[in-house]
Amino acid sequence: MTVPSNFDGNTKNAKLLGWVEEMAALCKPDAIYWADGSQEEYDRLMSEMEARGVAIRLNPEKRPNSFLFRSDPRDVARVEQRTFICSVNKNDAGPTNNWADPVEMRAKLNGLFDGCMRGRTMYVIPFSMGPLGSRIAHIGVEISDSPYVVCSMRIMTRMGQKVLEILGDDGFFVPCLHSVGAPLVDGAEDVAWPCDPENTHISHFPEERLIMSYGSGYGGNALLGKKCFALRIASVMARDEGWMAEHMLIVGVESPNCEKTYVAAAFPSACGKTNFAMLVPPAGFEGWKVYTVGDDIAWIKPGEDGRLYAINPEAGFFGVAPGTSYNTNPNAMNSMLENAIFTNVALTDDGDVWWEGMTKEIPEHLIDWKGNDWTPDSRAPAAHPNARFASPASQCPTIDPDWENPKGVPISAFLFGGRMSKNMPLVYQAFNWTHGVYSAATMGSEATAAAVGQAAMRRDPMAMLPFCGYNMADYFTHWLNIGRKIPNPPRIFRVNWFRKDELGKFIWPGFGENMRVLKWIIDRVHGRGFALESPVGWMPQHEDLPWQGLDFDPQRFYELMMIERDAAALEAHAHEELFDRFFDRLPKEFIFERELLRSRLWRSPEVWELAQERA
Ligand code: OXD
Ligand code: MN
Repeated sequence: MTVPSNFDGNTKNAKLLGWVEEMAALCKPDAIYWADGSQEEYDRLMSEMEARGVAIRLNPEKRPNSFLFRSDPRDVARVEQRTFICSVNKNDAGPTNNWADPVEMRAKLNGLFDGCMRGRTMYVIPFSMGPLGSRIAHIGVEISDSPYVVCSMRIMTRMGQKVLEILGDDGFFVPCLHSVGAPLVDGAEDVAWPCDPENTHISHFPEERLIMSYGSGYGGNALLGKKCFALRIASVMARDEGWMAEHMLIVGVESPNCEKTYVAAAFPSACGKTNFAMLVPPAGFEGWKVYTVGDDIAWIKPGEDGRLYAINPEAGFFGVAPGTSYNTNPNAMNSMLENAIFTNVALTDDGDVWWEGMTKEIPEHLIDWKGNDWTPDSRAPAAHPNARFASPASQCPTIDPDWENPKGVPISAFLFGGRMSKNMPLVYQAFNWTHGVYSAATMGSEATAAAVGQAAMRRDPMAMLPFCGYNMADYFTHWLNIGRKIPNPPRIFRVNWFRKDELGKFIWPGFGENMRVLKWIIDRVHGRGFALESPVGWMPQHEDLPWQGLDFDPQRFYELMMIERDAAALEAHAHEELFDRFFDRLPKEFIFERELLRSRLWRSPEVWELAQERA
């Protein structure tokens, strides 16, 4: 029996047609629908979901064309324990990934996917990661049984018929198969958020460039263009083809005399990446502008002039809602005024959204993310801590005029920053590329749920720990190789906004004030800024940062910058723990860098004293 389909010859790509046919035979949907990416299609799917009680249309006067979804409480975040890298050789996944044998995983998944779309429609979603036709962009096709995924992909990627035109008859695409894992058999009623948490598998087949995700409808588990393709699979493609797929935001900083400098920055999840990507320069920086190119992922390729050019492969933001406010990030707030999808936030009595930290005044009554009545006396939060907004990047007031430039934007600096309450200065510059790669690879970040007192630190090299699709030791080698191949690689900096004083208070105000650090970084990149050579890298002194509009005395600044020598030596020693895991694949440069760091630490006590004296 043929499955009803709206296919009307809109592609002749034999590989795509064959794959769709094969997946339809496996998943056994009731119908096949090729998404064209039009507004009409989006509106229709949303109206259908609204009619079924799956989507809640927000008050059109408050937030036009915007919707709220509530997930199953068991399906609220990425699941790292259920994320697999299925390379042929276990060593190619490396010690930091969950490896699974590709043959065994395929057999298991074929069992799970068999008939998993019964009673549902199978949507075929062609999408481009990056501006259509850019030499840095790539195409994916997601097959999914979730209309929420179709609508979200329309915000997060360039999606639909126009992508098939670029793909052509024999173009390459990454197949991304997704199912919520809840077939509707024997007339079973659907639920608002179907999923199968017990059987969730997010599997990547790097050699085949294939993604298969089963059982979850949430975020990166289901919107396969994001973490699965743009980071895990793309990192492997990038290694093989000589480019970079990084967990980085991209911003363009324009000075009052119109000098534009682009920097890319990697921060682990929950370190305020979206805020930094949409930074508002503070008082005293009149005439400075910070433009947003991307808030999460950067694809970076060497250009003909030997510089590195970056695109944001995404077309929307998928940000954490709680904590986002007109105070912390007005540009994010203004990006989601219309055409937005909210998941697991609270609903106000006038049909708008709310979450913890959004406003000072707490509403008297809400419907919480689970659909229950909520008042300020309720114990549980109104929005889930990982509640999300998805909004088109084009709606961001600070979106960069070149954000869709197919050539990308030239990157002058890479910033790396974890969340460290101790022993990590506000900023330093690496001595050279290799030292910078070493600093980025040994980056650590403290768990945010450190309410129990002890700040547990996890190493998160380049903020890529959950996102690198291959052995991270080979990833370090790839970084070293990139620096070797280009004549003038970007400068590398470490930053840390999260240092605390003895009373446990953040020393640095963060947010817009990070502009001061950014300005110093830009000066360094252009060969203007001053710095003192310290054992860990080049560091600014108090007088090297611009302080207009902020009273931040030198003593406080040195508290922020100081590293205890013994603590730094211990930290250098601890790098071994990370390195040992990679055994013979670790680039030998890292051993040398570590020894150099240790000897600088022992040989340069006067540098520490000098810094203290100047305080
Ligand atoms: C994200 C993450 O959602 O990094 O962007 O976890
Ligand atoms: Mn991220």
